[in-house]
Amino acid sequence: MSSQDIPEENLPAEQGHAHGAVDVADEQNPFADPGLPPHEHRIQDIDERAAKRSERTVAFLFTLSMLATVGFIASYVTIPPDRSIFVFPIGHISALNFALGLTLGAALFCIGAGAVHWARTLMSDVEVADERHPIQASPEVRAKVFADFKEGATESALGRRKLIRNTMFGALALFPLSGVVLLRDLGPLPEDKMRHTAWSKGKLLVNMNTNQPLRASDVAVGSLTFVKPEGLEETDEEFQNEIAKAAVMIVRLQPDDIKDKQELEWSHDGIVAYSKICTHVGCPISLYEQQTHHVLCPCHQSTFDLSDGARVIFGPAGHALPQLRIGVNPEGYLEALGDFAEPVGPAFWERG
Ligand code: FES
Repeated sequence: MSSQDIPEENLPAEQGHAHGAVDVADEQNPFADPGLPPHEHRIQDIDERAAKRSERTVAFLFTLSMLATVGFIASYVTIPPDRSIFVFPIGHISALNFALGLTLGAALFCIGAGAVHWARTLMSDVEVADERHPIQASPEVRAKVFADFKEGATESALGRRKLIRNTMFGALALFPLSGVVLLRDLGPLPEDKMRHTAWSKGKLLVNMNTNQPLRASDVAVGSLTFVKPEGLEETDEEFQNEIAKAAVMIVRLQPDDIKDKQELEWSHDGIVAYSKICTHVGCPISLYEQQTHHVLCPCHQSTFDLSDGARVIFGPAGHALPQLRIGVNPEGYLEALGDFAEPVGPAFWERG
């Protein structure tokens, strides 16, 4: 039954607010006020028996909550802590924990459900429109504030005692400098450390699993190997900082599959070396797809095409992975032909 079906005299009195009032848009006020939709009375507002039913439902829920609380206390007192029961589909669990959880949950749920039902069906159902007031203060208030300010300035003799005024401004202007000086405690400036890694010309590529220098003949087509620069040992104090920049992955492609001219020049017989540090936010890249030559960063799924200069083909990374130029020494070991030509990882770009 809706309020449209109820005789007018049975409906509760409206409380002085306009429903559905619509201002017409004009030049001064280009947005029409859509007003409120017509108010629908609840069945409990117009039928005392329905209101009584709601009252009994709310009372029932609150009574259930009381019983659950009593059950909680009784469970705590009577159930031994070492008794277990089988509860499908959880399995064997502590009977005491099960009873405490169940009764406590029921007690809280019934209080909440009773309160919600009470509010939705029996509490006052009046929609109130609150007019928006102008934010600007009234001219009287502004004039008073201005007059108070002038009076305060006169009483403090700020205009007359120029020495005090000027030294006060000087003190206020200098004070923030103490915070700037404290920035020094953040540590030494990074200078150009972000631009360089532990790689340099002639450094051998050392397999991170075996800790042995890598021969070109050891790298099979389709394999993915992680390497570090010769001389960088895990026992070094700066190992973590250095490897965070210098970690490199080695992949062997068929030379004919390499599309990028510079990539081909910087590779050796199809072996390419790329920074392992994702250019998004610096996660280590670890997933390689042999067929497509794509590597995937597990953090946010940035995908790089190793056959095409490691350019980004998917995901949030903004830059291709930097390539390390490599060659082979007379003994057949892979070696770096210099450092990376650009900063690795994301930090440099984020700052730029
Ligand atoms: S860190 Fe690699 S995709 Fe976000």
